[in-house]
Amino acid sequence: MKVFLTGCAGFIGYHTTLRLLERGDQVIGIDNVSPYYDPKLKERRLELLNDKRGFTFVRGDILDRPLVAETMKGVDRVCHLAALAGVRYSFEHPEEYISINIEGFFNILDEARKQEIAGMIYASSSSVYGGNTKLPSSEEDRVDDQLSLYGMNKKDNELMAHTYHHLYGFPVTGLRFFTVYGPWGRPDMALFLFTDALLNDRPLQIFGEGKMQRDFTYIDDIVSGIVASIDKNYPEEIFNLGCGRQEELMDYVKVIEESCGREAKKEFLPMQPGDVRASLADISKAKKMLGFEPKTTIREGVPKFVEWYREYYGV
Ligand SMILES: NC(=O)c1ccc[n+]([C@@H]2O[C@H](COP(=O)([O-])OP(=O)(O)OC[C@H]3O[C@@H](n4cnc5c(N)ncnc54)[C@H](O)[C@@H]3O)[C@@H](O)[C@H]2O)c1
Repeated sequence: MKVFLTGCAGFIGYHTTLRLLERGDQVIGIDNVSPYYDPKLKERRLELLNDKRGFTFVRGDILDRPLVAETMKGVDRVCHLAALAGVRYSFEHPEEYISINIEGFFNILDEARKQEIAGMIYASSSSVYGGNTKLPSSEEDRVDDQLSLYGMNKKDNELMAHTYHHLYGFPVTGLRFFTVYGPWGRPDMALFLFTDALLNDRPLQIFGEGKMQRDFTYIDDIVSGIVASIDKNYPEEIFNLGCGRQEELMDYVKVIEESCGREAKKEFLPMQPGDVRASLADISKAKKMLGFEPKTTIREGVPKFVEWYREYYGV
């Protein structure tokens, strides 16, 4: 299969590209290596991908419609992962979110539909559940109370995809990822921030006074869900991709401390705007329709991240 994958230099895009290449697919990856976080990390991921057979990299912006049109030609699937992915950054840079996460999404969706690509799989987020406190979150639950512009963007993407399916019969699958972590993870996410602080003798800034719960999903499990969605290519679906277990934030911190072999100084801070206190995915639909079986617990996954971090940064 030939897959057009956006955001290939990103955390999830890098791992997904690797998996597709390993099984013999071709990937045309596009990424503008945006400076939202350390571009060196993205360049390093790209170097590793460039060594693999079947990979073509296009350095460019999903907002560049002629470039998108040209590079998408003749592919079998579109896998759209490029976005501004942080909740907090959206408070200071709302216009960038509207442009990349909404206009950018439109460019990819509309072009894929025009070129009659066989199907598009795209990244949504657990953030669409926002203020809906019912747990576990199921795909059938109401998602009309987003707490951040980022969450609203993802909900907007789902609506746009739904409308395109309704109007043109274009096959679309939206994946609501729940807090993804693992090697090569994002520097703005808790696991990276905590490990970085701990190994560099700074206190951990723990929001929500530490009283938060999360469904943490290991990257390899997420990639299995993405690849299964690409293969199934359902006419129109939304899936939760989570681990299906709820962990206390402070247990997560404990596992990080154990993996680093030292105890952290901790600074407890209030909840941040846009954050939710708890997340937990009902993954029964993905299990049934995608054969999705997340295997990795935080006790197995966190040490793998710490090992990668130590090696990458030479700590
Ligand atoms: N990591 C998570 O826990 C998580 C959770 C829910 C949803 N998601 C979604 O999954 C997707 C991937 O997330 P990630 O964690 O890998 O983030 P990431 O920031 O590591 O990857 C996104 C990539 O998109 C690229 N990009 C951004 N704007 C672009 C543009 N205009 N043109 C071309 N490329 C552009 C970036 O350079 C980056 O490499 C995103 O859509 C994100 O919203 C992630």
